[in-house]
Amino acid sequence: MSTEGKTRPVTTHRLVEMKQRGEKITMLTAYDYSTARIMDEAGMDVILVGDSAANVMAGFNSTLPITLDHMIYHAQSVVRAVKRALVVVDLPFGTYQGNSKEALASAVRIMTETEANAIKLEGGVEIIESVQRILSAGIPIMGHLGLTPQSINKFGTYSVRAKEEAEAEKLLRDAQLLEKTGCFGVVVEKIPAALGTKVAQSLEIPVISIGAGGGCDGQVLVVHDMLGITNEFSPRFLRRYADLYGVMTDAFTHYIEDVKSGDFPNDEEQY
Ligand code: KIV
Repeated sequence: MSTEGKTRPVTTHRLVEMKQRGEKITMLTAYDYSTARIMDEAGMDVILVGDSAANVMAGFNSTLPITLDHMIYHAQSVVRAVKRALVVVDLPFGTYQGNSKEALASAVRIMTETEANAIKLEGGVEIIESVQRILSAGIPIMGHLGLTPQSINKFGTYSVRAKEEAEAEKLLRDAQLLEKTGCFGVVVEKIPAALGTKVAQSLEIPVISIGAGGGCDGQVLVVHDMLGITNEFSPRFLRRYADLYGVMTDAFTHYIEDVKSGDFPNDEEQY
């Protein structure tokens, strides 16, 4: 990447240009200042303040319990750290599905209270009125199709989605509708790679994969999973780039030993 490319802020338009020239888009989740700062300085294109914060930050079993206030707190922490990446924030469950007025009010709170760049929401035709209303206020939207964790109670499992033709066709139609309505990108989660490629090829906006294969325009992972902080979650699509569970366990164990034995602090570590 050129020096200019490393410092010029990423915009939704630049993401479309990246797709046009075949440059893959990098995206990870972050929920706090320190992680977002490292990620941004490393050159990440998009940082997603995901509602997966409910799982990895708060320990809930699903993404449903996280609130708009919680998401705003996480997004504010991330935005303070970021100089270059595009910051996208998930609208949490229950803040946009009911009616489009409420959806706009939720999106406006995210944009005004956090100064993030865009929002993401889950679903296709079912939420299109909300999408239209938010977009008409000038707020950029990223869609999210396939495995949509906010609907886990409807589907019952986190298994691969859209394996059957009817569901695959609906997913493609939803993706095309989101593009036509004005979304700047779509995340597709846990669908067959061939379908991921088909969706990416049939849209002009970037299609970002999490478990949707290498034919998409970019990839996203949950940061705790790719750093190996979580060790109980091992779907096939996850590549772990570190074993922070092991590194942190070693550090905590040594600290406990050192304090118990009186080794820490030593003479140089006190005043
Ligand atoms: O909340 C999240 O982390 C997400 C990603 C899985 C795309 O939506």
